[in-house]
Parts: sequence; C-alpha cells; structure tokens
Amino acid sequence: MGRFLLVALCGLVLMGCRQEPKPEVEAPVKKDTADCTKTATKAFKMYELSEMASLMERMYAENSQLKQRIVNGDTLGKFPEYMLKIHSAKLTDESDNDAFFKENAANFIKAQRTIYEDPKTAKQHFNDMVTACITCHEGKCGGPIQRIKKLYIK
Ligand code: HEC
Repeated sequence: MGRFLLVALCGLVLMGCRQEPKPEVEAPVKKDTADCTKTATKAFKMYELSEMASLMERMYAENSQLKQRIVNGDTLGKFPEYMLKIHSAKLTDESDNDAFFKENAANFIKAQRTIYEDPKTAKQHFNDMVTACITCHEGKCGGPIQRIKKLYIK
C-alpha cells in the first residue's frame, strides 16, 4: 500500500512538472484557438496591432455601422476603397499571406462590393460578406470568429 502511494505520488509530481508554466519565448504559437495577432506577437512582448489587424478592426467597425444602415433602411453609400488594403497591408506573420489568404481576400472584397451594387438585396449580400470574413478566419485565425458572427443580420 505504502509503495502504491509512493508511485501515485511520484506520478502526481511528474504530472505537476509537466504543467509548469511554459517559458515566455516559446514559439511558434498555435493560432486556432486564441486571437492570432496577440499570441503571435507574445513571444516578442509587443502588443501593437499590425497594419492588417488595424485594418480588420476598421472593417469590423465599418460593417457594424453598415449593418445598422441596412436594418434601418438607410442609404448605404459606396464601397469603402480603403478595404482594398487587405491585399497589401502588413501582417503580424507574413507567412499568413499565402494562396489561401489571397483567394479569400478577393472573395471578401467581391462580397463587400456586391452589397453597395445591389442594395435591394443588401441583407443577403451583407450576410454573405460576413460569411466571407469567417471562411478566411476558419483557415487563418479562429480567435475573432465569435465576434464576427455577431455581425450577421438575423
Ligand atoms: C483573407 C482573409 C481574411 C478576411 C477576408 C478577413 N480576415 Fe480578419 N484577419 C485575418 C488575419 C490573417 C488576421 C490577423 C492579422 C495579423 O495577424 O496581422 C485577422 C484579424 C482580424 C481581427 C483581429 C484584429 C486584432 O485586433 O487583433 C478581427 C477582429 C478581424 N480579423 C475581423 C474581420 C472581419 C470583421 C472581417 C470581414 C469584414 C475579416 N476579418 C475578414 C484574415 C482575414
């Protein structure tokens, strides 16, 4: 019995060791669960947003407003040209700018444009645009998905 206890204790201690906090500088960090921009930069102890992350925040804010205009039946205005920066803005991790990203960026821009080009069907087009945001995020960084989903017009 004493022996068993000792073994069990050893096991506990060993398991305990494995749960020790990981060293700060460990990289690369997995991106699928956490907010990718923040985890990716953690190793370097800098929390400023990349050019791309700032653009994303601006697109989020823009589309929250656009959602309100659609819901209220207001005029929608024009496609915000600054969104084209999605093709060139600097990412936290430049290796994210791969074929998948480029294809999804193009799909997203097309979806965003369609909203203004066919305002009669704005709600449907708006929701398709939100899906285009999410499709890219599913492949790139899952962190903001729950937040993006809130944009959907029900
Ligand atoms: C083509 C792929 C793609 C599309 C489309 C896309 N995103 Fe992103 N998004 C990313 C990537 C990659 C990042 C991380 C940026 C970085 O690491 O610099 C990101 C980051 C974000 C962030 C986190 C920024 C921060 O504060 O760290 C938010 C919020 C976000 N996106 C919202 C959106 C919304 C809303 C849309 C649609 C209007 C959208 N995204 C469309 C790929 C995409």
